[in-house]
Amino acid sequence: MHTTVCIIGGGPAGLLLARLLHTSGLDCVVLERRERAYVEQRQRAGILEQSTVDVLRASGAGERLDREGMVHDGIELRFDRRTHRIDLPSLTDGRRVWVYAQTEVVKDLIALQLDDGPPLLFEAPVHAVEGIDGTRPTVRYTHGGREQTLTCDYVVGCDGFHGIARNLIPESAKRTFERTYPYSWLGVLADVPPSCDELIYAHSPRGFALHSMRSPTVSRLYLQVPNGASPADWPDERIWDELDARLAIDGDWTLNRGPITAKAVLPMRSSVTEPMRYGRVFLAGDCAHIVPPTGAKGLNLAVSDVTALARAFTHLRNTGSTDLLDAYSDTCLRRVWRAEHFSYLMTTTLHTDPRQSPFDSRLQLSQLDRIASSPHAAAELAENYAGLDIG
Ligand code: APR
Ligand code: PHB
Repeated sequence: MHTTVCIIGGGPAGLLLARLLHTSGLDCVVLERRERAYVEQRQRAGILEQSTVDVLRASGAGERLDREGMVHDGIELRFDRRTHRIDLPSLTDGRRVWVYAQTEVVKDLIALQLDDGPPLLFEAPVHAVEGIDGTRPTVRYTHGGREQTLTCDYVVGCDGFHGIARNLIPESAKRTFERTYPYSWLGVLADVPPSCDELIYAHSPRGFALHSMRSPTVSRLYLQVPNGASPADWPDERIWDELDARLAIDGDWTLNRGPITAKAVLPMRSSVTEPMRYGRVFLAGDCAHIVPPTGAKGLNLAVSDVTALARAFTHLRNTGSTDLLDAYSDTCLRRVWRAEHFSYLMTTTLHTDPRQSPFDSRLQLSQLDRIASSPHAAAELAENYAGLDIG
């Protein structure tokens, strides 16, 4: 079998790339290691930038998003027992964000793909790719208990942080930049209406907390926890008490409590692999870069990568020119590093490093106070949060 683009991985990056190529009349195949139910149930973040929403709509995946997604015009920052609202549209050129879970984006893209898209194979792990220096790479994968091969013009790695595509680039031709953080997040889903209209990012001497939501009846909440923590350390009462303490302000506010339906501990990490292209292999999404979730950038970066890639493949087909493909890595990395910096700043300003001194804590509060009192400082945050036009 031969295809123009072989996509490794059926997460949001791979699925959306397949849609965008398909709508441009380019053929491709998506090979996904896991089964459909697993991919559809994986809990991830849920903030979509305007540009992400625009691309999802253009790819045909905007219908349920437009019906069920919640448009937010601001976020709340809490620190020092006070609260400050960042108004996104007035501090940017009218930008806002959508709350719509990544799992729902994935379900919408899979449904479209299985309906009228190019082939999407589940339980089809790729284990080798040969000939990436030539013009016709061969992809080896397993499906239905049998070894299979697929030849293609290009391979796109959309196989996440633990995939194989990044390893196809020889060590001598790549560089990886990494940072780990001395804390993790405990994420919970609760069957209770959100206690707020907009997301709350809270700095507190007890550590960071985030109040987010999935729907008018489901809350999504996060607590900073030590690395190595286990959900077993966190009975429901302890979670609610800790959220209450970290989100507390002087003034009226009540945290709604309800049944917790899921708990998981998530590591916090930053990582970038350069370049994002080698020979006939391109990297997109989490396989090329990871951001800590505090800036809500992971999914949006993945969408920007595959949008640039689809444009570049279409340009090649229309004009015969590889200019955009050749520029892909540099184009994406500029945006990636901006998002890395923003995510790092949000993370280090809002979390309590177990090694931090009282001096460091005062610096954090001074920075948050600056954002709350200067429209310039607030605009810098708002522009990065709502999404910048880069690349
Ligand atoms: N063969 C086939 N599929 C593979 C292989 C392999 N060898 N290795 C990994 N995969 C699949 C995984 O099973 C997974 O479904 O690749 C997919 C990668 O999906 P994601 O991890 O969701 O990565 P991506 O599509 O880049 O999405 C980025 O996910 O982690 C969040 O914050 C991140 O929101 C961002 C988004
Ligand atoms: C989420 O709703 O899961 C979420 C929201 C904002 C973040 C991270 C996660 O910064």
